[in-house]
Amino acid sequence: MKPKVFLTRQLPPEPMKRLAEQADLTVNPHDRYLTKAEIIDGIRGVDGLLCLLTDTIDGEIMDANPDLKVIANFAVGYNNIDVAAATQRKIPVTNTPGVLTDSTADMAWALLMAAARRVAEGDRFVRTRQWGGWGPLQFMGTEVTGATLGLIGMGRIAQAVAKRAAGFNMPVIYWNRTRLSAADEQRLDVQYRSFDEVLRSSDYVSIHVALCDETRHLIGRRELSLMKPTSTIINTARGPVIDEKALVVALQDGTIQSAGLDVYENEPQLEPELYDMDNVVIAPHLGSATVATRTKMGNMAVENCLAVCNGNRPPNLVNP
Ligand code: DGY
Repeated sequence: MKPKVFLTRQLPPEPMKRLAEQADLTVNPHDRYLTKAEIIDGIRGVDGLLCLLTDTIDGEIMDANPDLKVIANFAVGYNNIDVAAATQRKIPVTNTPGVLTDSTADMAWALLMAAARRVAEGDRFVRTRQWGGWGPLQFMGTEVTGATLGLIGMGRIAQAVAKRAAGFNMPVIYWNRTRLSAADEQRLDVQYRSFDEVLRSSDYVSIHVALCDETRHLIGRRELSLMKPTSTIINTARGPVIDEKALVVALQDGTIQSAGLDVYENEPQLEPELYDMDNVVIAPHLGSATVATRTKMGNMAVENCLAVCNGNRPPNLVNP
């Protein structure tokens, strides 16, 4: 008999087909997030829940189905799931690590370049028919080549961002809870600095830490005030790592020059001022949004989900 699976949103075609073939599948019929009540309704009687980073999965949801075998997240981050509550109930939680490293690193660079060279601002200028021709003072941005790149966090995505910096002759400094080995620092051509020193010395600061209690508002008023007034902050990690209200003030009063954001504290809502600020490039959480990456993520999530449902160890288990 096929395992019963509840899927909270349509996946790309390939994983969707695999799941439909190998499971007795129920899918959210809407093109929107489900409410908590709808998720509770959906998981009753199923073996597996395949969910997204936009679904908050807490103990109450888990208790709606005492026979739930697995919570498979379609994401590398799993801060949307109460993993402790799942562990307590002996429910395996899985994620999709590694697969979105390059696409997210590319996105960090897209935001960095766009903020530095004022691409989105220029695009709006042309589209609104304001452009009267080339001008020597128009949209002067900030040099990228040779500037110092500072990385907060040094996991897989940060390392991929660092590798790309070589093409721009950028010195790369980083802070991470655990320092890399000398061999890895040499291989990546990165230098370790204190947290404050990375903020103080970088022209571009890119955030690459997971969201947890220790990293919530890791970047606030004090940290922004350490940064150069000509600097740019990039966030492709998780919104709450930056205190968004403090960021708005820092961008308004010139504490820092600009920001490139893919993630926000209360997605899909942004601090209202951000919508109208020209020195911020805003993207709708697109880090992993390439056809290839989302297909691979879907395949991994499906594999994790079906493995547990069929009594096997999943390839990407999050809880012990
Ligand atoms: C993840 O998987 O955690 C990403 O944020 C999705 O883009």
